[in-house]
Order: sequence, then structure tokens, then C-alpha cells
Amino acid sequence: MDSIHMYGGNFLRGETKIQGSKNAVLPILAASLLIKGTCVIENCPRIADVYHMQNLLQELGCTVTWSGNQITVDASYVNENSMGGESVRRMRSSVMLLGALLGRIGEVAMTYPGGCVIGKRPIDLHLTSLSQMGVEIVEEEYHFTAKVKKLKGVDYTMPFPSVGATENMILAAALAEGTTVIRNAAKEPEITALCEFLKAAGANIEGVETKVLTITGVKELHEVKYKVPNDRIVAGTYLIAALACSGSIFLEQAPIEHLHALIETAKHMGGNITVNGDGLGIDVIRRIKAIPCLKTEVYDGFPTDLQSQIMAAMAVAKGESIIEETIFENRFRIVDELRKMGADIRTEKNRAYIIGRKRLEGAVVEAEELRGGAALVVAGLSAKGKTVVNNRHFIERGYEDICRDFRNLGADINIG
Ligand code: UD1
Repeated sequence: MDSIHMYGGNFLRGETKIQGSKNAVLPILAASLLIKGTCVIENCPRIADVYHMQNLLQELGCTVTWSGNQITVDASYVNENSMGGESVRRMRSSVMLLGALLGRIGEVAMTYPGGCVIGKRPIDLHLTSLSQMGVEIVEEEYHFTAKVKKLKGVDYTMPFPSVGATENMILAAALAEGTTVIRNAAKEPEITALCEFLKAAGANIEGVETKVLTITGVKELHEVKYKVPNDRIVAGTYLIAALACSGSIFLEQAPIEHLHALIETAKHMGGNITVNGDGLGIDVIRRIKAIPCLKTEVYDGFPTDLQSQIMAAMAVAKGESIIEETIFENRFRIVDELRKMGADIRTEKNRAYIIGRKRLEGAVVEAEELRGGAALVVAGLSAKGKTVVNNRHFIERGYEDICRDFRNLGADINIG
């Protein structure tokens, strides 16, 4: 039922269009709470996490409507300040609503957020940075409350450039009194998208794309129409699938400028990359080569969200590859599943040692989280025979229709 079935071992050939970015649209949807009116957001992916955010916004009093891939949020009335239980625990991005609700109504009561099982993922950096802006936080075992009369600008250095904590602080600062300087800010493309959205709505933000963001609070934000950039992780997943399976594919509207680290890695592995205004092509004509050491890093290093997928490709590369995971401590959960397919992988602390096999064998495997699930699909497409990836719902959190996209690329794949 909740699975994906595929017959692997074929070259990939064809082209597919890349969907809008999950990690960009989620904080933008949260930001719509700051606008007493309507936001029209184009190129919104139809994925489970977006539907989930939609439900949360509706619970808070917003009206949300869809037309194709365009989502419209009317936040004229926000009449609820508490978010609890399952709806918050299911998705870590629920925490983005914290900064936005503090900016809008100054008071929030919420359960601690959940998300993928890829690490401890606390929210201490979010809470510490917001408390610098005058927010009083009372933490209890399963939930916390945050209250502020008027958010105040502050000059703050992030101990670590957390993507989510930077986004929360930007959301809180947009309507705050005075100027907020965020030093050692994350500079992932999704931060840039959030800043662009807020600027289009009238926010005063400087230093976008750098590690120092300066946000001078404005009295109010106005209605806005914004197009979400395309998803670099979805594009990266498909590019890696071409490395694992060989073939020749074209990714229409891939966000090339955000894929620098992956493109360099793909070239080292033997992929021939072509870039034109419409997207990104990759040709892989012979078995790929191993990468002696690949380290995940904050942007613009190699993204942790593509680490599992590249591991699946390394499992069939010639030679030994080593991956060092520096962002999340529990991101090797797919190793046991890849081993069921014949992969030769050993882990030691935050390192994985992968000796490439000529071919993996199809198997029944279990997805345990979003990107690991996508990586198992990549492995299944390169493997001989039939693979079944169970727990499809994890993959649907971030991929609009991974089977449709891979069928466009010539794969024999269907939901089961
Ligand atoms: C976001 C992305 C996720 C991506 C990650 C890193 C979204 C919806 N998710 O997640 O796909 O993998 O960036 O690029 O955009 N940390 C703390 N305390 C905190 C916050 C974070 O210790 O308060 C730690 C985390 O446990 C993790 C590291 O910092 O080890 C990075 O987390 P962060 O950059 O905050 O990632 P997310 O915003 O959760």
C-alpha cells in the first residue's frame, strides 16, 4: 500500500521538470502570518509538508486556497495563539510559526516540534535568539510558551548558523522595534528566498546572501505575490540517480546556481554536466568513480540533505568512498537498508566507508525518513531486479511525485 515498486538496472533517459522548493516555501508560508491581507505564492509544491503547514495556518484562523501550484493565504484574521499535539510534532517546520506569531500577536503556546529522525534537533538556538529580542520563554516538559509586548531589535551572533533559527529570527525582526543584526547567520538559498519574499512585502533587510543580516523593523507589511525557487534537493536527487544508473537526463528549471557543490562532485565521479538557461543536463557513460572524502557542510558546501542519495550512488562506484557527516548525528540510518541490497558500507562515528559494488540487488527495504527514503529509490533504480521501498509517506513529505518524475526519466517505477 504505502510503498514504491521498481525494476532497476536501466539507464535513465529523458527530461523532467523540477518542482518548487519545500524548504523555501515552508518559512514563506509562516511569514504570510505577518501580513494582514493576502499572499499569493506561486510554484508551491504539492507535498505533504505543505499540506501540513496549510492545516496549521487554517487552525490559526487563515483562509488558504489552491489553484494548480499557486497557494493563496489570507491572514487578515489570526485568532489563535496555541498550537499543540500531533499537528506540531509531525513536522519540525511548525517551529517557523513561532517567530511569525510573535511578530503578529506577541504570544505563542506550542508543543515541541517533531520532524525526521535524523538527529536530536533541539530548538535551543531558536529560543535563545528570540529571548534576546525580549521574548519571555517558559519551558515545560512537552510544551513551552513565548510572550513579548513588543519585539526589540538586537545585535546577535548565532553560535551556529542554524537554518531554522536564522529564519525564526528574521520573521521576528521584520516588524520589531529598531534594527536587528544577525551575525553568523545561515546563508542557505532558502534564507535568501524568505528575505526576498519579505522584502517584496515591504520589509527592510540588508546583507541577503551573506553571513550578516541587518533587518530594520517596519510598521507593517503589505500584500504580495511571490514565486518560490525550484528545489535544489529534488534536482540533486535526480542528478545523483543518473550517476548511479548511468544515462543522459535533463532537469528542466533546475536551480543550477544552488547546486555548485554537487555539480563539482558529480564531475569528479565522471558525470558530464551541461548547463543552459533552461536547466541542467548530465551524461554518464561509464561506471562512476569513488570520492575519497566527501564532507557535508553548511551552504555552499555539500548539503546534508543529499548525503544519503550520494551514498546510494557511491555504493555502485568504482573504489572506496568516505563520507563525513558534520550536520546531523543520525544520518546513516539507511546503511542497514542499503546492505540488504548488497552494499558494502561500514560506519564509524560520523564517517561512512563505502566500497562500491558493480551492482546492487533488488530487495524490500524500509524508508525511515524523507531523504533516506529518496536515496533508497535511487539505489533501487540502479539495482538488478525488483526493489520495494516501504513507507512511501516519508518521501511524499518532500517530493511531489517521485514516481512520475523518474518515469519521465525512463524508469520502471510505480506506487504500490
Ligand atoms: C533545515 C532544513 C533541513 C536541512 C537543514 C540543514 C528546512 C525545513 N529544513 O533544517 O532539510 O537538513 O536545514 O541544512 O528548511 N541545532 C541545534 N539547536 C537548534 C537548532 C539546530 O542544536 O536550536 C542543530 C541541529 O540539531 C543540527 C544542526 O544544528 O544538528 C543544523 O540544524 P538547522 O540548520 O537548524 O536545520 P533545520 O533548520 O532543522
